[in-house]
Amino acid sequence: MEQLRCNFCHEPTDREHAYISDLNPRRLGVICHHCLDALMITHERRPAGPGAAAMGAPAVVPRKLAQHTGAALPEPIHPQRLLEVLNQKVAGQHHAKEALAVAVATHLQRLHNPDLKVNPHLFLVGPTGVGKTHMIKVAAQYLGLPYVIAGATSLTAAGYVGDDVETLLARLFARAEGNIKKAEMGIVFLDEADKLARKSGRQRAEGRDVGGEAVQQALLKLVEGTEAPIPHNLSGPSGSREYSGVTMNTSRLLWVFAGAFEGIEELVKERLGVYERSIGFGASAQAPEPRALYPQITHDDLVEYGIIPELIGRIGNLGILEPLGRDDLLHILNGTGEPLIKSYLELARSFQVEVELPRTTLEFLAEQALELGTGARALHTLLSKAFRPILARQKPGSKVVVTPQMLRGLL
Ligand SMILES: Nc1ncnc2c1ncn2[C@@H]1O[C@H](COP(=O)(O)OP(=O)(O)O)[C@@H](O)[C@H]1O
Ligand SMILES: [Mg+2]
Repeated sequence: MEQLRCNFCHEPTDREHAYISDLNPRRLGVICHHCLDALMITHERRPAGPGAAAMGAPAVVPRKLAQHTGAALPEPIHPQRLLEVLNQKVAGQHHAKEALAVAVATHLQRLHNPDLKVNPHLFLVGPTGVGKTHMIKVAAQYLGLPYVIAGATSLTAAGYVGDDVETLLARLFARAEGNIKKAEMGIVFLDEADKLARKSGRQRAEGRDVGGEAVQQALLKLVEGTEAPIPHNLSGPSGSREYSGVTMNTSRLLWVFAGAFEGIEELVKERLGVYERSIGFGASAQAPEPRALYPQITHDDLVEYGIIPELIGRIGNLGILEPLGRDDLLHILNGTGEPLIKSYLELARSFQVEVELPRTTLEFLAEQALELGTGARALHTLLSKAFRPILARQKPGSKVVVTPQMLRGLL
């Protein structure tokens, strides 16, 4: 008879001392009792399932034991408190910060009271580099919730080569240090969700939409809540994947979708225009600025853009992000968010160079960044450009005051 080996440590084991899963029809899942202990999963016997009977295996299923794996429920938090935290670390973005604070506070309430029939999930709409990813990190880190950040464009539906949605959960599981209970309370942040927009009817008929809509459907299943098997070898196509036998219940995760949704203002305009015409104001209405339309974005516009209605129907909150203004960028330079300047000054100091950036220089940097149009990302770019020659050329023990004139030459 074939020697069983543990999928984790690859040591030989026997049926009496292992957890054996037949959930994956392609491959028997085996975990030896040492690894089981390590995974903090206890097991109990159940009546043999059909697959197990066929293989003559005594079927054993994992039961996530609250006593051992029980990650303590994070304390509920008042949205106002979370908003205060976000205000300290995220410049501007009042609308989105409020939406996020409510979403996360609702998520925590729902963990404590599973009967709450509210959808905490969130859609963030806004241009690049203005704090979508940043604010999720701030909230998750403050609350000690495990989180995973993924670009939707890297996802494929299961069966296609590339990361599929299961991989996301495996990464979340890893972030929760293998504590499945903790992982199940986590946050999944899916960036570039606009790139999943389904194609127009014609493109779909031509079969060119394997990425977008199929991935949305796969995500919908997870958002609705399912028991998803967690793969533990993440490389290679999903067909060759080994499963750890651990499943994650996805019904309590918090989902945050984000994207720039370029051109969505046209859809808003159309919708509002139709409305205005129908009540007779169409002719007199002035053409609004595209950005001015963003606060008016609704779930319907996202559906019109190509997000499937079932998925949108599951998302309770919508947060709109604005492009960062000069003052926001200045706030960020002055330390709201990541300690950008401080890090560069520290770096210089570690090379024995004392650098001073007067206020006028910071203002100049903020104005330059504004022109680049990539939000706060531009600050990273400009600072690394500005500091490179300083770090490379200044003698140890020297001191530099960086003026706007100097920067003009450098940038
Ligand atoms: N509103 C903001 N407040 C503070 N820092 C920000 C803000 N927006 C962006 N940043 C900084 O810029 C970097 C890139 O922002 P990010 O959140 O990744 O942008 P995106 O909106 O594209 O997800 C972050 O790491 C953060 O340092
Ligand atoms: Mg981002």
